[in-house]
Amino acid sequence: MASFQGRVAIVTGAAQGIGKAVASRFVADGAKVMCVDLKESVLGVAEQLGENARAIVADVADDIQVNGFVTAAFDHWQRLDVLCNNAGTDGHTAPVPDCSAPDFDYLMGVNLRSVFLGMKYAIPLMIEGGGGSIVNISSIAGLIGLPGQSLYGASKHGIIGLTRAAALEQGPFGIRVNAVCPGAVLTPLSADFMAKGGSDVAKWAAMHALRRFAEPEEIAAAVAFLASDEASFITGTAIPVDGGFTAQ
Ligand SMILES: NC(=O)c1ccc[n+]([C@@H]2O[C@H](COP(=O)([O-])OP(=O)(O)OC[C@H]3O[C@@H](n4cnc5c(N)ncnc54)[C@H](O)[C@@H]3O)[C@@H](O)[C@H]2O)c1
Repeated sequence: MASFQGRVAIVTGAAQGIGKAVASRFVADGAKVMCVDLKESVLGVAEQLGENARAIVADVADDIQVNGFVTAAFDHWQRLDVLCNNAGTDGHTAPVPDCSAPDFDYLMGVNLRSVFLGMKYAIPLMIEGGGGSIVNISSIAGLIGLPGQSLYGASKHGIIGLTRAAALEQGPFGIRVNAVCPGAVLTPLSADFMAKGGSDVAKWAAMHALRRFAEPEEIAAAVAFLASDEASFITGTAIPVDGGFTAQ
């Protein structure tokens, strides 16, 4: 089991879904966790997690706000060991000609700019403490093309590019940077995606070798492994946690 005793982590998008599961897992494994989300309900999530969790309402696409929550976590606990850049959205799901420039900018802001900003402000503080581990949440849409998900897919491919380059840059400073690429996960986001796209759970489940969606806790387990010392020689990877979706 991963241990995070004495470690400080930031998890974005922690109000629900995968981010909430990651924050819960980190606290259960001994970490102190700053939970970040645009939704005010993140305050209640941190309260439920107890004295080792705090929360900040912030927009991960906003330069000043990202600097603010990274600095706040460091100032409160005097160190920063782990960053999980998880907050994201599916945005406008349509073929390329049916997407607008504002659709593109919004999706890149929430899904990709956020990962850049989180790493930009966290890395110098991790270096101060002698190292750290960053886990960026990409997607199967970051590994393969999915029709109707061009903008989402571009943002998720971009996360893998950022992850690989940052891993090469920061390895000498003891910072590991990895990406997790989930298949379909049972969260409010996937429920919204199914509703918008007129798709159904059974059809998507059938595209996975395991014939089902993941539970958020199954993604959190992979994140906890990568963030922990158990993964001490793993960096620059993009690991599918996708029930076999991309195996074919
Ligand atoms: N659910 C899936 O099937 C699936 C599959 C692959 C990848 N992912 C990725 O996993 C991550 C989490 O997804 P989820 O399914 O838990 O989604 P979710 O919608 O259930 O949760 C995402 C959280 O991010 C927050 N958020 C959105 N925009 C934000 C912003 N600008 N600033 C701060 N917080 C913001 C939301 O308020 C929400 O609480 C996302 O990056 C998503 O792309 C999800």
